[in-house]
Amino acid sequence: MSELKNDRFLRALMRQPVDRTPIWMMRQAGRYLPEYRASRSQAGDFMSLCKNADLACEVTIQPLDRFPLDAAILFSDILTIPDALGLGLYFETGEGPRFKKTIRTEQDVANLGIVNTETDLDYVLKAVSTIRHELNGRVPLIGFSGSPWTLATYMVEGGSSKDFRHAKAMLYGQPDVMHELLHKLALSVTDYLNKQILAGAQAVQIFDTWGGALAHNAYLEFSLKYMKQIVDGLIRDHDGRRVPVILFTKGAGQWLEAMADTGADALGLDWTTDIADARRRIGDKVALQGNMDPSVLYASPANIRAEVKRILDGYGQGTGHIFNLGHGIHQFADPAHAKAFVEAVVELSPEYHR
Ligand code: CP3
Repeated sequence: MSELKNDRFLRALMRQPVDRTPIWMMRQAGRYLPEYRASRSQAGDFMSLCKNADLACEVTIQPLDRFPLDAAILFSDILTIPDALGLGLYFETGEGPRFKKTIRTEQDVANLGIVNTETDLDYVLKAVSTIRHELNGRVPLIGFSGSPWTLATYMVEGGSSKDFRHAKAMLYGQPDVMHELLHKLALSVTDYLNKQILAGAQAVQIFDTWGGALAHNAYLEFSLKYMKQIVDGLIRDHDGRRVPVILFTKGAGQWLEAMADTGADALGLDWTTDIADARRRIGDKVALQGNMDPSVLYASPANIRAEVKRILDGYGQGTGHIFNLGHGIHQFADPAHAKAFVEAVVELSPEYHR
């Protein structure tokens, strides 16, 4: 495959020297971009966009054509796995994701399979190889999956939830059933990520959006344990290069040491964590990705720039920092402000690498 022209994202993940801090934005392809909305309406709906490799490739590259970003992320969704397992994913306008079937009982879990990525999620692999080809070495491509716990919340609840009533009832009421569900999902996620790597993903991120909703012990036992199993099962070198793994648990400030012990190469931080403190605690073990509050993009470019500077100062001198938002960019963010954000990182960060 073609030579990588910009590898500062992969280098920073490995804590190797870089000329400036690399940057990408979680959910960088999405509704805040008018060109994304145009591609989605061309596809018809969100899942049709994910399932069309050429359109998925097109929207993956849209943010790179606007902003000087250092990585592309596969355009897809974490809910492709439950969809492939037969739950019937659909999106009700304005209501977020929904499933036709839920997983609530021991029998439901017993009947659940493990995904065969090549047959059930071939459209994702096709998107990965199409994007790699189209990027032609411009920047690295990130593959991703949801964590077992985060996927389980959607599958048990049947969609998004505020309190995770059913998922937590299973966790505390039938822990063995929840463990069996998470075990099966860990096997599916491992296969899914490894096949993305073989198809061309050059780094992978595990999104544990809802790990932070768990009690201390429950997080370690029901979320982190299964992410570690995945990390242990991943292909770590491919095509002559290390394939770094990034773990992102939203709300994980108190668990950073335990997360760093999984063997992941980098941790994603949300905005509630002080990045200076995170570096002191685990910066000798892993790279750190983050962590500007996405809501800062509602402020003026001057205020955005000041916040970027504050975070760069917080991390301090040297490599091992990948700039990002602390969670996905909001639907109502102004693309001009996203541009000011990315440019501030590009302009202000070289002095931290001298
Ligand atoms: O970062 C990127 O540009 C890649 C694309 C990406 C999407 N979803 C596209 C998407 C990624 C990495 C995801 C991950 C994802 N999906 C997560 C974990 C990350 C996070 O934000 O915590 C979660 C929890 C989901 C589940 C999901 N998918 C929800 C809750 C929704 C509805 C969100 C909403 O704001 O309505 C989706 C749909 C979705 N996934 C959209 C996009 C661009 C919006 C769909 C649309 O175009 O209408």
